[in-house]
Amino acid sequence: ALPARVRIHEVGARDGLQNEKTAVPTEVKAEFIRRLAGAGLTTIEATSFVHPKWVPQLADAEELFPLVRELGADLPVLVPNQRGLDRALALGADRVAVFASATESFAKANLNRTLDESLAVFEPVVRQAKDRGVHVRGYVSMCFGDPWEGAVPLHQVARVCTALRDMGCDELSLGDTIGVATPGHVLELLSLLNEEGVPTNVIGVHFHDTYGQALANTLAALQHGVTTVDASAGGLGGCPYARSATGNLATEDLVWMLHGLGIETGVDLGRLTATSVWMAEQLGRPSPSRTVRALSHK
Ligand code: HMG
Ligand code: MG
Repeated sequence: ALPARVRIHEVGARDGLQNEKTAVPTEVKAEFIRRLAGAGLTTIEATSFVHPKWVPQLADAEELFPLVRELGADLPVLVPNQRGLDRALALGADRVAVFASATESFAKANLNRTLDESLAVFEPVVRQAKDRGVHVRGYVSMCFGDPWEGAVPLHQVARVCTALRDMGCDELSLGDTIGVATPGHVLELLSLLNEEGVPTNVIGVHFHDTYGQALANTLAALQHGVTTVDASAGGLGGCPYARSATGNLATEDLVWMLHGLGIETGVDLGRLTATSVWMAEQLGRPSPSRTVRALSHK
């Protein structure tokens, strides 16, 4: 059976923009987030408190966050370590996300640490966040394949998920960073996680659409009972530290499918599409989302 309602975790302002080569003005980012909230999105990942040299596009996190803080939406932010948590808490963030990898290669490329070193960095970060009543999401990247290592054993993903849960993460997000997953693989991983004691209600899915599989994978996850789905308005995105990563599942494509299935999202698809068309104008190229193109065709 499919869920009656899905919570969309909108990542366009973070995952969508982090790989953008030319600096997007802070005010444009703030307006993007305001319009996303206006379209009915209630969880909007705002930015990352990472090292500015690693992700120059998000170097304005301190300027941006106060501009959107009072919107009323949940505004999670990424924190890679203690320094990131301190920066986020200083601005009053009440939702943070740590980001682990299921593979050694990506832990090294993305966090400059071994997998176990990165988990050791997260442990006190998650504890302090929880002590302060801050909601913590734990991302796990490369759950379905890795550009350097190829296939990723399911038990390796389960080990990282369990470690993040044991630290106190409220929610997990299973990342298909390079978009190679297919629906059977998604179901296998979800079943294994359940067997390992990770309940479906703490799991979100995060599909990049490199091979056009993101919607099919999402439907499989929904059939398994998942109700939190990450998506990026207009299909913006890609990870700067993962070869061959393209944009996330487009939020419009997701909403089209969900509403077609009678599943509630709270999103106004017309306003969302208008937001992505506006953002595409800011970035100077059309949205890759099929739904945005279909609905904005004049
Ligand atoms: P490092 O170079 O090993 O850092 O980078 P360090 O701990 O050795 O510190 C070096 C210097 O950086 C120090 O300054 C620190 O204070 C400073 P110094 O003492 O030399 O003057 N520093 C910081 N400054 C500001 N903010 C911070 C911070 N931390 C240290 N938070 C580090 C390690 C983790 C910092 C770096 O690798 C980093 O920032 N990585 C972030 C990479 C990233 O953001 N990737 C994209 C997000 S993940 C993703 O997209 C996947 C996802 O979408 C899911 C999926 O699709 O799979 C989530
Ligand atoms: Mg991602």
